[in-house]
Amino acid sequence: MKRIRVNLRDRSYGVNIGSGILAQTGSWLKTRGLAGRLVVITNPVVRSLYAEALERSLAGEGFTALDFLEVPDGEEQKSLETAGRLYLEMERCLAERMTPVVALGGGVIGDLAGFVAATYKRGVPLVHIPTTLLAQVDSSIGGKVAVDHGQLKNEIGVFYQPWLVISDIATLKTLDAKTLGDGLAEVIKYGVIRDRGLLAYLEANLARIKAFDEPVLEKIVSRSVEIKAEIVSRDEYDLRGLRAILNYGHTIGHAIESVSGFQVGHGEAVAIGMLAAARISRQMGILGRRELGRLESLLEKVGLPTRIPDLEVESLVSAMQHDKKVSGGKVRFVLPRELGRVFITDDVDLSLVRQVLAD
Ligand SMILES: NC(=O)c1ccc[n+]([C@@H]2O[C@H](COP(=O)([O-])OP(=O)(O)OC[C@H]3O[C@@H](n4cnc5c(N)ncnc54)[C@H](O)[C@@H]3O)[C@@H](O)[C@H]2O)c1
Ligand SMILES: [Zn+2]
Repeated sequence: MKRIRVNLRDRSYGVNIGSGILAQTGSWLKTRGLAGRLVVITNPVVRSLYAEALERSLAGEGFTALDFLEVPDGEEQKSLETAGRLYLEMERCLAERMTPVVALGGGVIGDLAGFVAATYKRGVPLVHIPTTLLAQVDSSIGGKVAVDHGQLKNEIGVFYQPWLVISDIATLKTLDAKTLGDGLAEVIKYGVIRDRGLLAYLEANLARIKAFDEPVLEKIVSRSVEIKAEIVSRDEYDLRGLRAILNYGHTIGHAIESVSGFQVGHGEAVAIGMLAAARISRQMGILGRRELGRLESLLEKVGLPTRIPDLEVESLVSAMQHDKKVSGGKVRFVLPRELGRVFITDDVDLSLVRQVLAD
């Protein structure tokens, strides 16, 4: 098992990563000073797979009155309406200021339950138990919790750090290939922005990853969490611009998701976005040809797309210009200098972007 600390002064917390560690939830919550009543927010898919093991662990440590609040599966549940229903159910469960909310599920559950925990009675203790690769390496770390509202995706939210994150690698075994791919796209992102060794590790261990080899998954989750933890601990509230490098692949990726009407999934869109950003850097004479080829071949071997489906270049460019990452009317790009090192620029010629997208 690996324990990584997210250093945020009095809001610091540990991220425990290991196989089968769901069974230790009860004792870890007790160590954090939590006891008594507890509310678990989850969805029917995850509940049927993992609630029993969680319940056994909690009951074994004397947690009483465990209430499981279920939210149907799907991004559309990340809404103010669902949050509103959960507040009332929490009230019915007699949840108090120190009653922890445990978010058991993927990023949708983590963001929604986190938002509810942050706002119910002005904030109750939050524990993340992420069960998708994306949630383990990305959404459970860094304290961004949010719901969607109308056109506003992830824009109604707050920064709210959990008390503890428990990432049980064994829960990843039940993921389908597409959901695993969404997480792998983010892992590749961490490699490109900070750690070419992680990319080499992915290249060498792809077959094992696809076979859900637990030590290999533990290693890639741990390294990804270390990288994200280091970045967010220096820029907790996303005010210093340091967190911006986490958007590598996402400027173009978000445009692809939105122009495709969310037919292209997040991981797929980010994969295309990462490669397009690398091509832009190559065209600018910065990224080497072999580096670009290596990234493209890794994405292909993982099974992520590298080409844009039939989408209008102009629609993509205008979607980018409307993205929230735009500052002062300019589109900001995170571009690789080499694999493992990126730079941020808002000085990319849009005709170059158009050309790369059209290719
Ligand atoms: N807060 C952040 O910093 C942050 C960062 C990245 C993404 N996000 C958010 O995360 C969300 C996407 O998260 P996601 O990719 O985990 O999607 P998700 O939560 O919808 O989960 C994907 C699917 O996998 C199922 N599932 C979850 N765990 C499973 C398991 N162990 N076995 C089998 N099936 C399982 C879910 O029921 C769902 O159908 C988006 O809403 C996105 O905005 C937030
Ligand atoms: Zn992402």
